Amino acid sequence: MTRIHQNMEVRDAKMQARDVSVYYESKRAIDNVSIDIPNKLVTAFIGPSGCGKSTFLRTLNRMNDTIPSARVDGEITLDGENIYSPKIDVVQLRARVGMVFQKPNPFPKSIYENVAYGPRIHGFAEKKDDMDAVVEHSLKRAGLWEEVKDRLSDSGTALSGGQQQRLCIARAIAVDPEVILMDEPCSALDPIATAKIEELINDLADNYAIVIVTHSMQQAARVSQRTAFFHLGQMVEYGPTSDIFTNPLETRTKDYITGRYG
Ligand SMILES: Nc1ncnc2c1ncn2[C@@H]1O[C@H](COP(=O)(O)OP(=O)(O)OP(=O)(O)O)[C@@H](O)[C@H]1O
Ligand SMILES: [Mg+2]
Repeated sequence: MTRIHQNMEVRDAKMQARDVSVYYESKRAIDNVSIDIPNKLVTAFIGPSGCGKSTFLRTLNRMNDTIPSARVDGEITLDGENIYSPKIDVVQLRARVGMVFQKPNPFPKSIYENVAYGPRIHGFAEKKDDMDAVVEHSLKRAGLWEEVKDRLSDSGTALSGGQQQRLCIARAIAVDPEVILMDEPCSALDPIATAKIEELINDLADNYAIVIVTHSMQQAARVSQRTAFFHLGQMVEYGPTSDIFTNPLETRTKDYITGRYG
C-alpha cells in the first residue's frame, strides 16, 4: 500500500505504472508499485540500499529485459501506450526513455562519436552538417560544449568524471528523448561536478520528464518536485518533495529522511 499525499493528482502523466512487481527468479524485488510520472517535472526515488529503486527505474525503459532472471508483472505506459506490448520496438523505446547510469560509461570512441552514435543508428541527421549541428546542440544543452569544442576527436574516456557524465547526458539527449532516467548520476562526482549536473537536470526538466534515483536527501530536495520513498520493494509514500521532507505520513519515511536508518 502506498500513501499518496493530497494535492498530488498528476494531470500531465508522461508514464504510468500500475501494479508493477518485479521478480529475480522467485524473489520479489518490487511489490505492486503504481505511480504516475509527471511530464516536465523531476521525480526522485529515495530509500535505503537494496529497496528496489534501480530495479523499478529499469522497468521504465525495459532495461530489466537484459537481466535473464528478471520478470516484470503489471502495466507500464508511455503516453498511454503499454511499453511491454509485443508491438513495442525496445530500441526505439530506449531512445524515447533514455538512461544515465551511476558510473559514467562513455563509449571508447571520440567525444563526437559518442554523441553522434544514437542519432546515426536512429537515422536522424544523415548529412554531415546536420550531424555536426546535432552534436553541437546536444553538447551545449549538456553544458559541455565550451569545454570540448576544440577536442571533439579526443576519446570520450579521456574526459574527467564529471565531463564524462555530461557527455553521457549529451548522448542521451541527442536522440531527442521524452523521459530521462538517472540512477545516482552524481554519486561518483565531486561537489562542483554535482552542482553542474543538478543545474542541468533543472534545465532539462523544462522539456522532459526526469526520474532520478539518489541517496542524497539534499539532492532530492534541490532537484525534484516529486519524491517517492521505497522500502523493502514497496513504494511507501509518494508526494510533493517539500511535503515528503517536512511532513511525511509514514514513520518509515520519517525515520529514513531523518537519517535513522538506511
Ligand atoms: N540482477 C539481479 N539479480 C538478482 N537479484 C537482484 C538483481 N539486481 C538486484 N537484485 C536484488 O533486488 C533487490 C533490489 O535491488 P536494487 O538494485 O533495485 O536496489 P536499490 O534500491 O537500487 O539499491 P542501491 O541503493 O544499493 O542501489 C535487492 O535485494 C537486490 O539484491
Ligand atoms: Mg540502485
